[in-house]
Amino acid sequence: MSITERPPLAQLGDPAVVANPYPVLAAIRAATPFAAVDGKLIVLGRHADCSRILRDSRVSSERGRSALAPPGGPRREGMSFLSMDAPDHTRLRRLVAKAFTPRVIAGFAPRIREVTHELLSAAAARDPHELEIVSQLAYPLPVQIICELLGVPAGDHQRFAGWSARLAHSLQPRFIEQDEEGFADAAAARIEFAEYFRELITQRRAEPGDDLLTELIRAEDEGSRLSEAELLSTSILLLVAGHETTVGLISNAVLALLRHPDQLAALRADPGLADGTVEETLRYDPPVQLTARIARSPIRIGEVEAQDGGVILLMLAATGRDPDVFPEPDRFDITRAAGGHLAFAAGPHFCLGAPLARLEASIALTAFADRVTAPELAGGGLTYKPNFNLRGPERLVVRTAGIRPVP
Ligand code: HEM
Repeated sequence: MSITERPPLAQLGDPAVVANPYPVLAAIRAATPFAAVDGKLIVLGRHADCSRILRDSRVSSERGRSALAPPGGPRREGMSFLSMDAPDHTRLRRLVAKAFTPRVIAGFAPRIREVTHELLSAAAARDPHELEIVSQLAYPLPVQIICELLGVPAGDHQRFAGWSARLAHSLQPRFIEQDEEGFADAAAARIEFAEYFRELITQRRAEPGDDLLTELIRAEDEGSRLSEAELLSTSILLLVAGHETTVGLISNAVLALLRHPDQLAALRADPGLADGTVEETLRYDPPVQLTARIARSPIRIGEVEAQDGGVILLMLAATGRDPDVFPEPDRFDITRAAGGHLAFAAGPHFCLGAPLARLEASIALTAFADRVTAPELAGGGLTYKPNFNLRGPERLVVRTAGIRPVP
């Protein structure tokens, strides 16, 4: 399949565009809503349209319903609740939701602070004048925390990092490239991941812990609350979603602060602006650029109509810069009340990990502003991952006058 009807969409896969997709996204937003691929794909980029569709009960998250799915489509067994509809989605989400409420997550703040400071101190010990944000802070922090929350040994990270990245790659939408190999690779990664969790579940059954995996195992053991396949897919979802996204939030925020020194100075002067910095980054440069829904019945959106089975592509990253909602949308301003963005989606699939991602990023940015003195983006120090959906820096090198000791 190729999308030639509206050229800007295909450009999103271009590496130069991945580094700064916002001009292309603005052009796409201005053209939306529009239909492509013989009307089987509807593209939305306006905040009002995306917000409405995410909450519309006539849409589905089951990719197998898509008119664009390959024949024989993705098998349902490997699917997590991210790709399910009610009632299965509701039942599975409810089982884990209580572990992610803002109140429960707030209890992790001291541990998140401790890990953040350990990471910055380790970086300072290695080189007091250079910090590579992705590998030394933005990636290891969420990995460590989601592992502890879930009950996965963080030391196993080397084993699952590759599977996780391959699964994250599979979230690239299919219209960018005909990537059969990529899909087969993601399916293989899922199988290896499931094997890994099967081993871990056997161990945890023998020696229960005080963690989410143990709780999920109990729910399985108690009978009909979740099947073994659901236990595996839920564990994989939480582990992958728990770290392949927050890394982008922390890195994108640091990058925006480096490019806007007045904003960094404001944050340093008032650490109370850390939460605002996180919200503004989610609006201005979100880690998840898009998602999709499938129409279950004809749905009219402005001039276009999605047919049953039609794919509705929601350009979340375009909605954050919609001038109808955010005045001067291209300005990064940590004092603006950026609430109302769709970086975590909306409706029944609203990101379950939002309180955790927000807290981790807020603590990481506070520590960065406080301890990393006179930071500057190193020349040639920024490269992006090739993914444009789960988008963010692969490397972000900061030169600094020094990393201060823990306050
Ligand atoms: C900045 C970081 C994050 C961003 C931008 C983000 C974004 C999103 C988005 C856009 C969705 C909705 C996808 C859709 O419905 O199509 C979602 C769902 C989800 N996220 Fe996150 N996420 C982040 C961090 C996390 C973390 C730390 C976790 C922790 C485990 C997590 C777990 C989940 C889960 C389980 C879902 C599925 C919810 C459902 O289907 O009901 N996310 N996320």
